[in-house]
Formats: sequence, C-alpha cells, structure tokens
Amino acid sequence: MDPHEAAQRSARVAAVFDRVADTYDSVGVPWFTPIAERLVAEVAPAPGERALDVGTGRGAALWALAGAVGGTGHVTGLDLAPAMIDATRREAAERGLTTVDLVVADAAAPDLPAASFDLAVASLVLFFLPDPSAALRAWHTLLAPGGRLGLSTFGSRDAAWEQLDDVFTPFLPPQLLDARTSGTRGPFASDSGVEELVATAGFTEVRTASFEQAVTFVDVEQWRLWSWSHGQRTHWDAVPGERHADVLAAGAERLEAARDSDGTFTLTQQVRLTVGVRPVVSPRWT
Ligand SMILES: C[S@@+](CC[C@H](N)C(=O)[O-])C[C@H]1O[C@@H](n2cnc3c(N)ncnc32)[C@H](O)[C@@H]1O
Repeated sequence: MDPHEAAQRSARVAAVFDRVADTYDSVGVPWFTPIAERLVAEVAPAPGERALDVGTGRGAALWALAGAVGGTGHVTGLDLAPAMIDATRREAAERGLTTVDLVVADAAAPDLPAASFDLAVASLVLFFLPDPSAALRAWHTLLAPGGRLGLSTFGSRDAAWEQLDDVFTPFLPPQLLDARTSGTRGPFASDSGVEELVATAGFTEVRTASFEQAVTFVDVEQWRLWSWSHGQRTHWDAVPGERHADVLAAGAERLEAARDSDGTFTLTQQVRLTVGVRPVVSPRWT
C-alpha cells in the first residue's frame, strides 16, 4: 500500500473512532476494559516504569497501566482520533492522574524518543494499521532494550456471534469484508501468524496467552447500542437507513440462539494476547 493510501485508510479509521468517542466503552457492557486489563497484567508493569498505550481509545489499558506504574512511573497514551484523546484527557484530569500524557499521533510511526519506554501495549489496535509489520518495528524502536510489548487481537467467536454479525454482511463493501479484525485470514487468523509478525519485527521471547471473553446484553436494544458505540458503527453506516429496522429484527432473531435462562444474551470471543521483548542486542535496522 503506498503511503498516501495508507494515510487515507488510517484517517478513515480514526474518523469512525472520533464519531464513537462519546459512547465508546460506556454503554454498560464490559468488553474493552476487561480485555485491556488482561493484556496489561500479561506485560506485568512495575511501579516506576514508563509505559506506552498505542491506540489508547478511551483508556481501557491506560487506567490499568497508570495504576500499575504508580506515581513514580509514567504513561503515554496515543491515538489518531482527536475526539478519543480529548475525552480520555478529560477523564485523566477527573481521575487526578498527573503522570499520564495523551497525544494525537499515528501509531504507524509515533514521533516519540527512541528507547524511552519500558513497555508498550496495543489493545485491539494492530489489525487496523495499514502496515502492521512496519508499526511493530517502530514500536520496537521506542522500547528500551529489555522492554516488553503486549498486543491483544481477536481469535474466533462462537457460532451465535458469527451468525449475528452476518446480518451486516450483505451490506458491507469489500474493504469492510477484510477480515483482519475478526481474524479469519492473514496473520491475524492464528496465534502463530501474530507471533511471526512480532518476531519478524525483532522481538524475542514471543508467546501467546489466550482466553475467552464473554459479552452479555440485557436485551436487543443494548446490543444495538453497543454495536453502535464502537468500530462496528461502520457496519451500521453501510446499511441504508430504511433497512436498519430489518437488520435489527434479523439481529433480534439471531440473538435468540444466545439467550440465557435469565433472559439475557451472552456471546463469547477468544482473545489472543501476544507478548514479546526487545532484546538487549538489537537487530540491524534499529
Ligand atoms: C478498538 S479501539 C481500541 C481502543 C483501546 N485500546 C481499547 O482497548 O479500548 C482501536 C483504537 O485504535 C485507534 N487507532 C486506529 N488506527 C490508529 C492509528 N493509525 N494510529 C493511532 N491510533 C489508531 C482508534 O482511533 C481507536 O481508538
């Protein structure tokens, strides 16, 4: 992908997240935060460390990092969507966090000092980037020798969730059918695919931990609100307004397969945590 096309693609992604910044991760459905907290635990930040949260969004990983590194540490959160950064910066102030910086920057090549972080995380971000390998090399450079990287990406979903999401498929243009985020092909389709990306960027001790994350909706309306509040907004946007009611009805029908005895709906997704270390002896491009 040429640099102009890549920049346009990233700008389109950021524009979607700008539009959802006010509702993102705040419609009463725990999802991004539990995933990010597992990721942060996997890279084990210690008091006093300098942490980077790439694609921080509304701070799902940032708050956990800030708590772990404490008042003697520091956390930088970056995101390409200015509305995400504005909202998260306001929340950092409300939380009284003085050791957190938030910057608008492209994760593809952040303009930050080399070797200035002890750890970096990117929760549910890498698959959005036009050139994930180049981004990983850039993050490698930002880490001090011995610094740790942690990524979360998606594995498979349960059958009910796949069928639910398929309500959008007939409306999606080819670029939204790119399955990177849902991980059915390419490097994001397997643990080894993501591990190879990370290892090829110069990281060592690369390993994967996976877990199953459930999401529960109290009713169909909560599913609609939730799907509208994050990146899936692009799927709703692809549906002509006069067909929204049809898609909602089809979604309600398919959610029945996930109904629990208490009347709520539960879907499950495998989440992959991939971690690696910048070796003390660096590869030749750094
Ligand atoms: C699915 S959200 C994850 C946010 C957060 N890490 C979390 O776990 O809730 C993806 C985030 O990546 C950001 N993003 C996408 N492409 C980016 C890029 N090229 N540079 C920086 N941020 C980017 C989006 O704006 C969005 O906030």
